[in-house]
Amino acid sequence: MKVLGIETTCDETSAAVVEQGPPGEPPRLLAQVVLSQVAEHEPFGGVVPELASRSHVRELTAVIERTLADAGCAPEELDGIAVAARPGLIGALLVGVTTAKALAWSWVKPLLAVHHLEAHLEAPALVGEVVQPPYLGVILSGGHTDLYRVEGPDPETGRESRLSLGATLDDAVGEAFDKVASILGLPYPGGPAIERCAKDGDPHAVELPRSLLGPDSLDFSFSGLKTAVLYLWRGQDARGAGPIEGAPRREDICASFQQVVADVLIEKLRRALARTGLSTVVFGGGVTANRTLRSAIEEALGEDVRLVFPPPRFATDNGAMIAVSGLRLLAEGRTSSLDLEPEATP
Ligand code: KG4
Ligand code: ZN
Repeated sequence: MKVLGIETTCDETSAAVVEQGPPGEPPRLLAQVVLSQVAEHEPFGGVVPELASRSHVRELTAVIERTLADAGCAPEELDGIAVAARPGLIGALLVGVTTAKALAWSWVKPLLAVHHLEAHLEAPALVGEVVQPPYLGVILSGGHTDLYRVEGPDPETGRESRLSLGATLDDAVGEAFDKVASILGLPYPGGPAIERCAKDGDPHAVELPRSLLGPDSLDFSFSGLKTAVLYLWRGQDARGAGPIEGAPRREDICASFQQVVADVLIEKLRRALARTGLSTVVFGGGVTANRTLRSAIEEALGEDVRLVFPPPRFATDNGAMIAVSGLRLLAEGRTSSLDLEPEATP
């Protein structure tokens, strides 16, 4: 079985063809194209939704054509068209969903509506790490910071269910990386820039707040951390571009910021594991590309639980993870009608 996956939830235009071999074997990526819009959004320090939609409109057809050509796969050979249908920027989603519907109709193929966050958690299957529920699902991206209890399929509906255990009350963790980078004059996207800058810094040099929201909470808050960096770098009135006189080194701020994020994540993971009794954690989302965070989490928790990270190239948004989810939906017989409408909310 071969499925075409289409991803346009945010600022990556991506398509991929993934093939499912015999039962029990992991899915195989035949081709993938990821077109990043980073350069278009960079002057604004964040994703501009209208620019994202327009860019998807401009590029998606060519991205799909190139993907099919690279895969050596004619449309007739496909068994389904999978598309990320929620959550995301509504205008961006509309481009992918409308295109997928048009292709499914004209090529007479099943349409598969994929949940973008579920797909992030299924990405490790692309390197053979297929995880059976129940597990703790952790999404760390530019739009989400979520802890889920992922349950196995319901015997009646056959559907997997996700129970939300905690989420961010303000900024998502990737958003915090992007905003802190912008405050410090580092390029967009902020995650990779902060990780690079932190390499020359001392993670214990700068005192920054760790917001745990009380002893039992599984929610997150990163906006206080961002504001603390703002005041350190630009002073209490935050007028100039910084650094003010006496500000810590940028490298030390980056390393200390990353350390605080790691500490908070580890504490919340410990709490969630203790509360649920789960012994497997599956990570997804762009922030999991951060090697410093990964190592800190592995060092703190790796001996007690199984930690499953996506390979870095499948950590940020990509069509392959959408196709993997689509293959599962197809196997479960869960196709969608051509009335499918995208939804912005999870
Ligand atoms: O999952 P993703 O590609 O898109 C969303 O669905 O949001 O995640 C993008 C986010 C951005 O905020 C970016 O700064 C962050 O992932 N990111 C990183 C790293 N690489 C990307 N954050 C920290 N360290 C990184 N190496
Ligand atoms: Zn994502």
